[in-house]
Amino acid sequence: MNVNSLQVALAGLPIPVMYFLDTVGSTNDFAEELAKAGAPDFTLVVADEQTRGRGRLNRRWTTPAGTALAFSLVLHPNPAEMENLGLFAPLCGMAVCQALRESCGLAAEVKWPNDVLIKRRKACGVLVEAHWLGSELQSVIAGIGLNVSLASLPQAGEVLFPATCVEEQLGRSVQREALLAVVLEAFLAERPHTGSLAFLAKWENWLAFMGEWVQVEGPTGALNGRVLGVAADGSLRLETETGAEIVVSVGDVRLRPAANTFDSK
Ligand code: BTN
Repeated sequence: MNVNSLQVALAGLPIPVMYFLDTVGSTNDFAEELAKAGAPDFTLVVADEQTRGRGRLNRRWTTPAGTALAFSLVLHPNPAEMENLGLFAPLCGMAVCQALRESCGLAAEVKWPNDVLIKRRKACGVLVEAHWLGSELQSVIAGIGLNVSLASLPQAGEVLFPATCVEEQLGRSVQREALLAVVLEAFLAERPHTGSLAFLAKWENWLAFMGEWVQVEGPTGALNGRVLGVAADGSLRLETETGAEIVVSVGDVRLRPAANTFDSK
């Protein structure tokens, strides 16, 4: 991947400014600096390697050179989107699922709120960060990391959920630029519908563990529930053991199957 191959693959997409970096600390941090300097909506930052990639809950995200898709978008939400900032993350997850189905024929799922799983293993993580100055939103940075080749996989001890990559599931190599183009197309196509009933229905269609028992772990402890779907604000709807319906908000939470057969730290 280089700036020329990216430009070719992304030609025709409404990307006002695109940066390709051979190596960077974190594309989210780089994009935030661009946003502070006035970068327009849908400015794209792509890196071949990240040396200080970040995940949710202050976790590390490894992106060795030549192995993955690691990119961030600068977003300036419109007034309707301002009401639903929490839905940018699932929008990213859904765009990745859509692209994996369209361009690779892979059946991917969204693990609430936004990780992408293939065969119940994590292939992609999403980190959406809103930057405020007082009460004024400066920008939203949406970062996506998709494991493409085997060399992108984190060490077993580094993960909380079993990982996979696109090429492992597909059994052939994938052109990262072409995949990126389809992810961005899917994001652009779905963005205007974010928050609509159709959007929520689509999200539920992609949702992993629908109808299954999961464990949601937060700062105040863990609870088990059967996944019912998502609420309008993006919360997860669960049925508890007593049959009551509860909602869990996106935040410092981790979701895993209730009968946890996976190795985890
Ligand atoms: C997670 O699963 O915890 C989220 C991982 C998000 C990783 C992406 S890679 C591109 C962007 N830059 C970062 O530093 N993080 C995100």
